[in-house]
Amino acid sequence: MKINEIMLKMISESDGNLDDIEHYVKVTCYARMIADAEGLDEKTKWLCEAEAIVHDISCPLCRKKYGNTNHKMQEKESEALLREFFAGTDVSEEDLERIIAVISRHHSPHLIDGIDNQILIEADYLVNANQSSYPAAAIHTFRNTYFRTACGTKMLDLMYAEKLHEAETA
Ligand SMILES: [Fe+2]
Repeated sequence: MKINEIMLKMISESDGNLDDIEHYVKVTCYARMIADAEGLDEKTKWLCEAEAIVHDISCPLCRKKYGNTNHKMQEKESEALLREFFAGTDVSEEDLERIIAVISRHHSPHLIDGIDNQILIEADYLVNANQSSYPAAAIHTFRNTYFRTACGTKMLDLMYAEKLHEAETA
């Protein structure tokens, strides 16, 4: 399945929710930039982008079922939705299992177990730090604890320079 096909399928299933759509489009763009900069092979790059597109697949269900997008519930609800999303496509069982594994812990940065997982966490954070107005100290701590790639760290430093400076001088 080509990346554009996954993106179009995801958009077609997002019910016109532009906040959701714009979120994962941004995350996918950052993930692609970081994956390129890391010099990953094509298959791993594909995984990074595919994971970024579908990483919040359970948000609509969680809003309906629990009234919010609690991180743990999101992780728990993702697997079944991902199996349904990729059913009947040419995505291999091995790739699907990897996508499920990464997305089932995409709010658990202490469990990162591979470069695709690392890149998803960084790309999502680059978007969320602004979208969810994270405080300066939180961004500073997260950067120093979980950011690992040169490109992701550089982007965070550039995009959140003011907040990082604020945290360092507090
Ligand atoms: Fe996200």
